[in-house]
Amino acid sequence: MPSRIAVLLESAQAERRVAATPETVRKLIALGATVAIESGAGREAGIADGEYEQAGATVADRATVLAGADIVLAVQAPDPATLAGSVPGAWVVAAFDPFRQRERVTGYAAAGLEALAMDWMPRITRAQSMDILSSQSNLAGYKAVLEAASAYGRAFPMMMTAAGTIPAARVFVMGVGVAGLQAIATARRLGAQVSATDVRSATREQIQSLGAKPIFVEGVAGIEGEGAGGYAGETSEEYRAAQAELVAGHIAKQDIVITTALIPGRPAPRLVSDAQIATMRPGSVIVDLAVEAGGNVEGAVLGEVVQRHGVTIVGHRNMPSLLAADASALFARNLYNFLAAFWDKEAARPVLDAEIGDAIRLTKGSQVVNPRLSA
Ligand code: NAI
Repeated sequence: MPSRIAVLLESAQAERRVAATPETVRKLIALGATVAIESGAGREAGIADGEYEQAGATVADRATVLAGADIVLAVQAPDPATLAGSVPGAWVVAAFDPFRQRERVTGYAAAGLEALAMDWMPRITRAQSMDILSSQSNLAGYKAVLEAASAYGRAFPMMMTAAGTIPAARVFVMGVGVAGLQAIATARRLGAQVSATDVRSATREQIQSLGAKPIFVEGVAGIEGEGAGGYAGETSEEYRAAQAELVAGHIAKQDIVITTALIPGRPAPRLVSDAQIATMRPGSVIVDLAVEAGGNVEGAVLGEVVQRHGVTIVGHRNMPSLLAADASALFARNLYNFLAAFWDKEAARPVLDAEIGDAIRLTKGSQVVNPRLSA
């Protein structure tokens, strides 16, 4: 029996993305699968039901779409209780946020489903095209700068006009992973004067190559914040004190601060204090991209735009979802690339290898099987 792939209408708050596009539907069918899409699934991303039908998918209500499905694709893993009708042991391929959503993972085990967390894809070369964190963070970094620019009551580029000169905005990016790099590039394109910092010293050259100024703690033990898999680890006490002092001096002169710092499996590091915000010029803007992981900025509120000391702090939930069409196109390709890379023609379904399978599989045979969750 060929795989029957179900694509669901997202149910999470502020989620406008969809896990398949007409392009990926065509490609999945070309692999030998059948695809069923829940009616309305693409609406918020600008894709009408009819476009999916033209691509060869069936469009129906949720129960019909799930009936007999052995692979369920979603952007955010749905409540397992809403997946009745899929075959026993069906794969659910989505972002699971496993550390923060442990109960949901347990629910998947209890429901006998196989949860595959695309957000735990190893950061290895062959998996780059399947990496949802990168594809979505890139868009989030871009959008964060646009949100900052729109909340800022001044212009970004220097402008010399007959009425006088407007100075360039000063933008400081904290955390230079995928989102931070795109934030730097976007702010530069808008004509801002950009500086950036990270705990990983490897980012210094990347910052410079984008035409921004690196701001780094020098000569302190525990400086190397590089942890496993190219991610940041926790920094030493001494490092944190030195970083706070350096940032305090710098932040007072900034108009815009974009924070993106994350540490996998832990709350986001606190990088900007209320006292530091008080030193910024009124009218300045801070965008906290880590707000869903607890926030880098004191006073940032999830899902809200708040004012502190005359500074606007933007705490939007799910920034990639604000670019739902592009974010969906890239997310859907990540999912397709994943399924296609492991597609077994004989079986007409994907068969995972150990390196990637063991990294992303959370549940199987009614058990939680991922070692990262057994600690
Ligand atoms: P992330 O989203 O986990 O964190 C964002 C940034 O915050 C990181 O650069 C991190 O070093 C920084 N950070 C953490 N704590 C900080 C602190 N206290 N102060 C300042 N900055 C802090 O990281 P992301 O964007 O997922 O990328 C992490 C690394 O993985 C990068 O080196 C990236 O190039 C690499 N990568 C590799 C891929 C592959 O080979 N397939 C794919 C994507 C990224």
